[in-house]
Amino acid sequence: MADANDQSGRFGGQVAVVTGAATGIGRATAMRFASEGAAVACLDIEEAENESAADLCRANGADAVALACDVRSRDEQQSAISAVVERWGRIDVLVTSAGMYVGGPLREIPLDRWENLVAVNLTGVLTSNSLVAPIMTTQGRGSIINISSMAGKTSWPNSAEYSATKSGVIGLTRSAAMELGPHGITVNAVCPGNTLTDMVSKVAVEIGATLDMTGEEWLAMRAEDTALKRLAQPEEIAGVIAFLASDDARYLTGQAIEVDGGLILS
Ligand SMILES: NC(=O)c1ccc[n+]([C@@H]2O[C@H](COP(=O)([O-])OP(=O)(O)OC[C@H]3O[C@@H](n4cnc5c(N)ncnc54)[C@H](O)[C@@H]3O)[C@@H](O)[C@H]2O)c1
Repeated sequence: MADANDQSGRFGGQVAVVTGAATGIGRATAMRFASEGAAVACLDIEEAENESAADLCRANGADAVALACDVRSRDEQQSAISAVVERWGRIDVLVTSAGMYVGGPLREIPLDRWENLVAVNLTGVLTSNSLVAPIMTTQGRGSIINISSMAGKTSWPNSAEYSATKSGVIGLTRSAAMELGPHGITVNAVCPGNTLTDMVSKVAVEIGATLDMTGEEWLAMRAEDTALKRLAQPEEIAGVIAFLASDDARYLTGQAIEVDGGLILS
């Protein structure tokens, strides 16, 4: 079994923390780091699915742990990060994939819905970054990859609140990159286009209904809007995340990388 002392694989001997690891992009990312030699900590609010993500990492030969954590709670994030450091003594990679989508017309956005979205998508990311930064600073090395969205770079109707949180993640990433760069830490954002996860299936039904379309029809339209004429698989986003954490990307920081199959060109 690979553990944090195992030097085999691109991330051999490294420790990766992935929030939102239970499903979708986070799960694919946890698996990717596990299969390339890292010890992996899976953090998520959905405990059963998170345990199964950690099981899959272990089945890929990695040392892995599932930690129940609501990213809205600084105390829960602190406990999870402390447990990782206690177990493995270091954190080399942080990926903040925990997130949610809500949308609707601007005039109908309830304040409590906005506050909850900001707590998950933006404050949750800020908290993860701020808790891991001192650990990586002491090490003199680390990679932080925050998951934004193409919605943080461009705009569509009825997604003001989601877009705002995802643009916020890009601003946070740029500033953190400037602050942590002198300590050997890179900080980048990944902006996925529509990726075939539970989240996008739900979004497709919701947005499709507003356009008199089925979820499948909306997804087909979104695929047609890309240069590649298809939507992303979560593993394709995970591959870019792994690149950003790798030695090949040590001189790459403060960027918000569009992984959208050419959607932005349309
Ligand atoms: N799927 C897409 O098309 C797409 C596109 C752009 C950006 N994104 C972003 O990618 C990230 C991952 O999304 P996904 O598509 O894999 O969706 P997903 O729903 O499959 O995964 C999101 C994960 O975050 C977890 N989570 C939600 N709230 C949490 C909380 N409070 N505390 C801890 N964990 C929490 C969920 O339990 C889930 O496991 C999100 O930040 C999302 O905004 C997704």
